[in-house]
Order: sequence, then structure tokens, then C-alpha cells
Amino acid sequence: MIDLKCGQYIVLGDLMVDEYNYGEVTRISPEAPVPILKHSNKILFPGGAANVAMNLKELGNNVELVGILGNDEDGNWLRNYLNKSGIGTQGIVMASEVSTIKKVRFRTKVQSLLRVDYESLQRQYCSYAATIIKYIDEFLNNNITDGVLVSDYNKGMIPDTLKSNPYSPLFDKILKKNIICGSDTKKEAETISLYSGFDFLKPNKIELSKVIKRTLTSANLLKRATCEYLMKCKAKAVYLTLGDEGIYYNNCNSEVFCKANKTRAVDVTGAGDTVFAVIMNCLRSNMDIETSLKLANLAASIVIQYNGTKTITKSELLRRF
Ligand SMILES: Nc1ncnc2c1ncn2[C@@H]1O[C@H](COP(=O)(O)OP(=O)(O)OP(=O)(O)O)[C@@H](O)[C@H]1O
Ligand SMILES: [Mg+2]
Repeated sequence: MIDLKCGQYIVLGDLMVDEYNYGEVTRISPEAPVPILKHSNKILFPGGAANVAMNLKELGNNVELVGILGNDEDGNWLRNYLNKSGIGTQGIVMASEVSTIKKVRFRTKVQSLLRVDYESLQRQYCSYAATIIKYIDEFLNNNITDGVLVSDYNKGMIPDTLKSNPYSPLFDKILKKNIICGSDTKKEAETISLYSGFDFLKPNKIELSKVIKRTLTSANLLKRATCEYLMKCKAKAVYLTLGDEGIYYNNCNSEVFCKANKTRAVDVTGAGDTVFAVIMNCLRSNMDIETSLKLANLAASIVIQYNGTKTITKSELLRRF
């Protein structure tokens, strides 16, 4: 019988709103050869780091989410949603100088039509680093944190630089505290060693390829590719998500591959966030790697059966295991 131990986590990173617009397409526009979506409804979901936080919360953990939102309609919607879900939002800066990052999707029941991204690279984010770091410091000083997850979509929250990165001293402090730390990062070869010493990183295929500067051609080459990746980032282990193929783990001493669960994928958005959250919770529960990968694959296979960014509860996950 497996169990997931509850913990207190800090999630830090790029906060986003995922907007889904649904409708039906019955004809092509006479103005240009594009489908006309007859709009029926709009749903908003927490995205990016906010989705990681939601996943951890649903698994029964306490979560403090730290990041930056615009002081606009979307930002206020997301903060209220997170509050109602029981996630700590005191560490979220509501900045009037920036706009909340939003991905707007247009879909029918069966098909994606278009995604529009609202995201100007938010350089102003740096000016909030001191406030954010001070907030996290208090948690670290009080020894009430079991794990830190950095959900780094490289949208500006964690600057893409090694030299004088304001978050480097914070990461050093976390490493010294013996707290589990993981990052799901889009940083590339030049700056990924910002996460040097981290317990684990969770790239997907494209992210890993960009770091090792070549494409992954064959599954046989995963060992070499992930070892190269670990040499670049200097993290202790890598959990590489391979979409419908599953998850591959390597810490350069041992490797484990776990095939994905066969399922009908409706919307794969956010599946990587789910894997990231589940792996952290498994590490905290001292679960063996094989079981962790099975559980993460199962969780991801459930969330992708739903439209929109979906999360899964601990009881549902354990019941279906
Ligand atoms: N078609 C699929 N069938 C079954 N499982 C899938 C499928 N697509 C994804 N998964 C599951 O989701 C996990 C994460 O997928 P993926 O590698 O696409 O992550 P990602 O690119 O980081 O996702 P995102 O960043 O959009 O959240 C996979 O390791 C697998 O467990
Ligand atoms: Mg991802």
C-alpha cells in the first residue's frame, strides 16, 4: 500500500492564466480561408507555476505560491481563485507596471484552433526580486518548508542570467537547508547551471535538446543525453518527460524508464506540471523511483483526459493506482 506524505511547499515561478474559449465550427469564413468559431463559453484556469501549486494542493499539501501578477482583471481573478483553493498567496506581488501573462486558446470539443499568448518579456520583474526573496527567507528561517519547486517558464520571473542572478543566493540557502528542491525550467545551456545542486530537474524532450544542443533521435540515446544534461545543469537527477512515451529517470548511477499509461488524450496542457508536482511529493514520501514514475504517469494520464488544465486529488490518484 503506497501513501503520499503531506508537506509544506513553496512554489516559485512564472504565474499565468490559461483561458479556454469553446465553440462550434460549422463553416469557413468568406473573408479568408479560416474557420469561424461560434463562441459558446469561456473558462479560466490557473497556469504555469499556479498550476503546479494547484496540483500540489489537490494532493493534500500546504502550498505557498510566490510570483508576480499584473494588478489587472486576470491577475486579480487568479489570486482570488488561488485563495479560494486554500493556497497561500501572500507572496504574490500584484504589480501595476506589468500585465498578467495569459494564454488564450480557441477550441471545439475535439480540436484546438488557435492559441494567442499575451506576454511581453517582463524585465520589470527584477525590481521585485528582493521582496520575493525576503518573503521566502522567512519560511526558510522558520524551518517550515519541506520542498521548493521552481516553475521556470523563462518568462522573466527568474532572470535568464548566471551573473548576479538575484535568486542564486536564495538557491544556495535552500541547498544548505537540506530541503528537497526541484525545477521545471526552460533555461538553456548557458544559464541552466543556475539550478546547480538541485535534487532534480524535469525537462521535456525539447527542453533537454536545447540544453545539450542536439535533438533526441533514439530512445537508446537517452542515457547519454541525460548524463550530458546533468553535466550542464549540475543537478542530482533528471526526470525527462517523453509525452506519450512516458518518463525516463537518470542520476548518472542508475536509470529507470516507465512507459506512459495508454489513454485517449483530450488536452495535454499542464501534464508536465502534474508530473513535476507528483515527483516532488513522491521524493518527500521517500518512495522508490519505479513507483514514483508509475504514479506520475498515472496522474498525467488522468489530467490529459479532460479539457483545460486539470488537477487530481490524492484520494483519486491512490484509488486508481
Ligand atoms: N498522449 C499521451 N498519452 C499518455 N500519457 C501522456 C500523453 N501525453 C503526455 N502524457 C503524460 O504526461 C507526461 C508529461 O508530458 P510532456 O512530456 O508532454 O510534458 P510537458 O511538455 O512538460 O508538458 P507541459 O509543459 O505542457 O505541462 C508524460 O511523461 C506522460 O506521463
Ligand atoms: Mg513542461
